[in-house]
Amino acid sequence: MEATSTCEAPPARRATVFVCVLCGRNPADKAAPPSGHALYEALAAEHAARAEMRFRIEPAQCLSNCNRGLTVAIAGPDRWTYMFGELTIEDAPGIYRGCIANAETEDGLVPWNERPACFRRALIARVPPLPERSL
Ligand code: FES
Repeated sequence: MEATSTCEAPPARRATVFVCVLCGRNPADKAAPPSGHALYEALAAEHAARAEMRFRIEPAQCLSNCNRGLTVAIAGPDRWTYMFGELTIEDAPGIYRGCIANAETEDGLVPWNERPACFRRALIARVPPLPERSL
């Protein structure tokens, strides 16, 4: 009997999603974890449950968008970088859908009408990929 292999190479990782875990600190309860940390944990839990390989999720210790709600950035080699602010913990499912849509593109450019509502509402900035001559 001939052995068949069901092993396939995992899809290439295209992007990293940075979630600020310091945003949303409650000044009245400094011991409580910031809501940005809760957002990171919600996204990381969804990510682990799906075993999604095309992007990874990393905590970030401030993305310099501190006064504009919870903050997420998506970056990767040869891709547009996006930063989103004014996010809430309730946006976690939409953020995750937006990360998948981003990872399904070659360059990070997701058509406007294919972006989740929270990404359409909360876009702070986008930065083009580095030109090859910049290195
Ligand atoms: S504390 Fe989150 S962007 Fe600065």
